Amino acid sequence: METKFWEVKKNPEAAIAEAAGLIAAGEVVAFPTETVYGLGADGLNAEAVAKIFAAKGRPADNPLILHIADTEQIYPLTSGLNANARALMDTFWPGPLTIVVPRSELVPDIVTAGLDTVAIRMPSHPVAAALIRAAGCPVAAPSANVSGKPSPTNAKDVADDMTGKVAGILDGGSCGIGVESTVVDTTSPVPTILRPGGITREMLEERLGAVEIDPALNGDPALRPKAPGMKYRHYAPKAPMYLYEGTLAAQRLTEAVLRAQKQGLHIGVLCDDAVKGRLEESLRRGHTAEIFSWGQGKADLAEHLYEVLRDFDRVSPELIIAMGVDEKGLGLAVMNRLRKAAGYQILQAEEGGITVKNG
Ligand code: TXA
Ligand code: MG
Repeated sequence: METKFWEVKKNPEAAIAEAAGLIAAGEVVAFPTETVYGLGADGLNAEAVAKIFAAKGRPADNPLILHIADTEQIYPLTSGLNANARALMDTFWPGPLTIVVPRSELVPDIVTAGLDTVAIRMPSHPVAAALIRAAGCPVAAPSANVSGKPSPTNAKDVADDMTGKVAGILDGGSCGIGVESTVVDTTSPVPTILRPGGITREMLEERLGAVEIDPALNGDPALRPKAPGMKYRHYAPKAPMYLYEGTLAAQRLTEAVLRAQKQGLHIGVLCDDAVKGRLEESLRRGHTAEIFSWGQGKADLAEHLYEVLRDFDRVSPELIIAMGVDEKGLGLAVMNRLRKAAGYQILQAEEGGITVKNG
């Protein structure tokens, strides 16, 4: 299949009109959102939605999010919204929050993977909003990666995965947030975070009071995640990855990198600017470590995390050593992704020594 590529800023009206025309005609188009790129099709057209699953190689038991551009669009899609759902819509839409609500008959089974709920989100990205409005339908859209790869946060990464598989790619530049939306189940007695993301636990608690987190998110293989997608091996680079967490993470990571370098291993490192600076001073000239910094702070880490995970596969290290952050704010979302990427090979570095968690 020939894949059209539009650089949105060159001619926004024409690009969005063409892309929306393809979606309305039952084709699949990739588009930017404020979180990650999505792979969109007419969410009420089961045949069009099937093309998304085919392009991604996505398991049929993993439901999709329906994207809307105006609040009114949610009513035909649900059999009813409770007070928590309404509060979340009023407070956080448009934005990086997906709510799980009871579905209506209108929603095709393929979208919900047969569940009696449907996930809905109103993105704030202007290109996403304009595209949904112009298409004139709710747009079903998972992240625009091949299943199992990190979500793409720029159009080049989308093109790497989707050229030849979809009708078009709208290039709207890099995504600002960089990790997927927070998914909240509003149908449980206490609203429950099924996937941490751009809207933080603290923001949800401030609005709703008590909020639970799906206990399956900590990697216990005995628990089944309530968001089917969270059970898949996702985000993982090809090389084995070890994640340092805790108060002494930076120090212990530095030592591990120096040891690995002495052993002649080709390693990849993920850390912040400060640690990268110190590592480069300590490593001898001509070192072969591939050190990727996310910048400074959690927002930078969220924004660059998936790019770096893809970069690791490009430089093919034998081993990856990564540094974690605490779980406050955006930390919960990035640590969820990082721990998964590391296959839960976690080294907890504290004053008393290093303990291996889940490893
Ligand atoms: O930021 C995002 O949410 C991006 C952009 C494109 O909007 N989309 C995205 O979609 O991340 P996807 O398909 O990659 O992830 C959707 C997650 C999956 O884990 C899926 O299992 C879960 O939401 N999900 C969808 N419908 C659900 C439902 N009815 N109940 C529970 N989980 C659901
Ligand atoms: Mg995804």
